[in-house]
Amino acid sequence: MKAMLVAGVIVGSLVSLSVAQAQSFAPAKGEDAQRYRQSALFMMGQHVGPMAAMVRGDRPFDAAVFQWNAAQVEHFSHLPWDSFWVAGADQGKHRMKPEIAREKDKFLGMAQKLQEETGKLVAVSKGGDLAAIKPAFAAVGASCKQCHDAYRAQ
Ligand code: HEC
Repeated sequence: MKAMLVAGVIVGSLVSLSVAQAQSFAPAKGEDAQRYRQSALFMMGQHVGPMAAMVRGDRPFDAAVFQWNAAQVEHFSHLPWDSFWVAGADQGKHRMKPEIAREKDKFLGMAQKLQEETGKLVAVSKGGDLAAIKPAFAAVGASCKQCHDAYRAQ
């Protein structure tokens, strides 16, 4: 019984792991961390694209496709952030503003906001109602933009 309780606590804390995690899952090598982060952000963008097209009416709304893309964005919304602080991950080609290093909490707060809004989008998208999806999608887009305006160089 005690062992089950302990296991429950461990599982519970794994589930609640978010950007505030103490442990980093980023690659240890700077250049790998940079590529990992940029790849995750690229993938996130690729899965936002089809949803944006449906919301704009440029592509017919397909609830299953929308829901699948929302789930991918939710997944990728957890991956890039640790990799911003790996030594050497700010070399080479990148668009990180130097403020990221100085404003870690604020930056991670914006990452967390994205995760929350994306979680809501996943939930709403299960209903398959485009009218309800639109504001949830706009909130995700706003959280991308808020961080890019503050921390992504042109
Ligand atoms: C917490 C801050 C933050 C949030 C939230 C955020 N981004 Fe970014 N994004 C960045 C930064 C900083 C870069 C530049 C990273 C670099 O050059 O290494 C970036 C880069 C990118 C890139 C370029 C990746 C590449 O190098 O090919 C894409 C695409 C992108 N973001 C899409 C998105 C989308 C879509 C969202 C929302 C669903 C989003 N981002 C949310 C900070 C953020």
